[in-house]
Amino acid sequence: MSNESTEILFRPGLEGVPVTHSAICDIDGNQGNLSYRGYPIEDLAAHSTFLEVAYLLIWGELPTQQQLRDFEAEVQMHRRVSFRVRDMMKCFPATGHPMDALQSSAASLGLFYSRRAIDKPQYVYDAVVRLIAKIPTMVAAFQLIRKGQDPIQPRDDLAYSANFLYMLTDREPDPIAARIFDRCLILHAEHSLNASTFSARVTASTLTDPYAVVASAVGTLAGPLHGGANEDVLAMLEQIESPENVLDYLEEAISKKSKIMGFGHREYRVKDPRATILQGLAEEMFARFGKDDMYDVARALEDEASSLLGPKGIYPNVDFYSGLVYRKLGIPRDLFTPVFAISRVAGWLAHWREQLGANRIFRPSQIYTGKDMRAWSPLEDRSIQVDP
Ligand code: COA
Repeated sequence: MSNESTEILFRPGLEGVPVTHSAICDIDGNQGNLSYRGYPIEDLAAHSTFLEVAYLLIWGELPTQQQLRDFEAEVQMHRRVSFRVRDMMKCFPATGHPMDALQSSAASLGLFYSRRAIDKPQYVYDAVVRLIAKIPTMVAAFQLIRKGQDPIQPRDDLAYSANFLYMLTDREPDPIAARIFDRCLILHAEHSLNASTFSARVTASTLTDPYAVVASAVGTLAGPLHGGANEDVLAMLEQIESPENVLDYLEEAISKKSKIMGFGHREYRVKDPRATILQGLAEEMFARFGKDDMYDVARALEDEASSLLGPKGIYPNVDFYSGLVYRKLGIPRDLFTPVFAISRVAGWLAHWREQLGANRIFRPSQIYTGKDMRAWSPLEDRSIQVDP
């Protein structure tokens, strides 16, 4: 291919370049519409549970009552993790980031379950159940282990989301808080070919095992331009401190070309529909459990930023209000992204299955900008120096 034609095809960040067909999730970024398997996100978040939505994403249809009961029972049965995984986590440094702990522990699951059986439906089903069941247990376990405590065992009488909050806090959560958390999981479960899902599909395309697929996606989700932004939003709100400081903060950030965390999205030119729902969930939390002062700062920031950045199509994204909800639920800030992973594992697994259904290994090309072929020189004759 000539240089001229490759230059025409080259899109940094693959912006707007389709790399697969997919029937999982659709985004209309101009209208602010999002649907999973054809169902609007608003309906799913209002009426479904997270496990129901995970089932929908992974197998393509909403489950019947019996299918959901069976799936919930299977997930419940596989919530515990081996003492070997817990012992391994006890060797992790307590100061390490929980996303790194999660990436390592998710990858370690591959050591326990036989590899390379991805062509067997039972292996696929079991892997889906195990990953959805065990990831919350591992996130909660590291939280306790790093505080020098023993992990809390899952409780069979609690549903998926309530059980996670229980394992994290050693308290049975208020049912309204547990339902709000479950709705947060629904909102984060899938979002087409974002960086971590693309990473999952690239890894899946090599036909490796699903634990490696999820571990690679967790590593990708950890970055501040992706899932890590939700941590930074709260830090930013605290730095702004009060609504009166919002305009100064914004003008300075814009003049320095700094990004406002929780704003902007490659797909949306309007407010992210998940941000609208999360804002409502934050208000429900505050009405029941008391307000968070940072909410006023967030609202003032949204107003000012929307008028300054709105003309460029930059509005709040999913990360803008989620941290305020999580903080009110008692989730520590550096667990916000692992909580995102608990939910997004459903989307990653849906893409894993879809990728295997019509697989071709990913192997893009590049435009080489390095040296022309040149002669190797002995050490004593070299004069070119680089500063590493
Ligand atoms: N604050 C201020 N300006 C922003 C912005 C933000 N959060 N996001 C994008 N922009 C501006 C850029 O400065 C750039 O302006 P320019 O054309 O004048 O140079 C323009 O919008 C395009 O930005 P770009 O970074 O190229 O867009 P992208 O599609 O590559 O990036 C994100 C999308 C999400 C990475 C980006 O919006 C961002 O970094 N947001 C903050 C982090 C965040 O909240 N991430 C969570 C995403 S769910």
